[in-house]
Amino acid sequence: MEEHLKYKVQHDFRSKPVVLSVKNLYKSFGSNHVLKNFSLDVHENECVVVLGKSGSGKSVLIKCIIGLMQPDKGNIEVLGQEVTTLNHDDLDKIRMRVGFLFQSNALYDSMTVRENLEFPLRRHGIDYSKSEVDAAVEEALSNVGLPHTQQMFPSELSGGMKKRIALARTLIMRPEIILYDEPTTGLDPITAREISDLMVEVQEKYRSASIVISHDVHCVKIVADRVAMLIDGVNYADDTLENLMLSDDPKIKPFLFKNEIMDVQENRNIRLGAMVLAGTVFYFFLCILSEKTKACFVQRLLYMRILRM
Ligand SMILES: Nc1ncnc2c1ncn2[C@@H]1O[C@H](COP(=O)(O)OP(=O)(O)O)[C@@H](O)[C@H]1O
Ligand SMILES: [Mg+2]
Repeated sequence: MEEHLKYKVQHDFRSKPVVLSVKNLYKSFGSNHVLKNFSLDVHENECVVVLGKSGSGKSVLIKCIIGLMQPDKGNIEVLGQEVTTLNHDDLDKIRMRVGFLFQSNALYDSMTVRENLEFPLRRHGIDYSKSEVDAAVEEALSNVGLPHTQQMFPSELSGGMKKRIALARTLIMRPEIILYDEPTTGLDPITAREISDLMVEVQEKYRSASIVISHDVHCVKIVADRVAMLIDGVNYADDTLENLMLSDDPKIKPFLFKNEIMDVQENRNIRLGAMVLAGTVFYFFLCILSEKTKACFVQRLLYMRILRM
């Protein structure tokens, strides 16, 4: 339980410059009003987690930020540029400085790890010599703890390794901002923790700012400097996780504690299952023992007890 009480040491980044600013953002799909006046600022080197339940618009928000989706209304300023009005070329330039880690990793299955990592360099026309590419690939892979995987294919990698390689492919561009869409979803708890720790290492090493989209409270505790809660299309609460955990707000409270309650319930269910199994095995064992008398041992015990009453 000790583990659950540990939070990242949260620094106050408010005195640092704002590198990403979302203001009064609206996005609807027909009658589905997803973002309804959402605002958020991210400061240099700060990690802000956007927490919200499934379908609340987290991915829509992140897609608007990198210009994959056009909002209906509002402003998005990334590294001093208004993304909503940028042309294709300028958008491409911004994307060189903003890494995006897809939930699905989006690695190319037919390419080796090395080719996957080289891809963004080629796509953005970065004119590196062979030795510079070698050095960049080696550095990115070593920073995610997988230095010997250059010739492997994605199909040979575990879920956690794929996530690391996807992160390495983002890091090779030395991004100033990294956007993570559900980086730990679908990973086992140990791997999820390793990925969360790696995200903090990357933040320290590359001095990058980041937005992490998540509903995994354990990951949030490890990576977040600040948490923005996306509820009903707005930035409903924006504070440190510790402060949000103290909130009595009925919209905030159940969400933040859900994962921990689920963990406790899961452990309880596992214990209960083990007890039922052990009891059943014990019962059959006793039945076999009492086979000679053709009466079940437990039944006899019960019978004796009833007679005594
Ligand atoms: N391209 C799209 N066309 C229509 N509806 C969409 C599209 N993308 C997302 N939505 C809707 O927007 C809402 C928010 O989706 P999303 O941002 O993916 O949620 P999440 O918070 O789980 O990431 C959902 O109701 C989803 O169905
Ligand atoms: Mg999503």
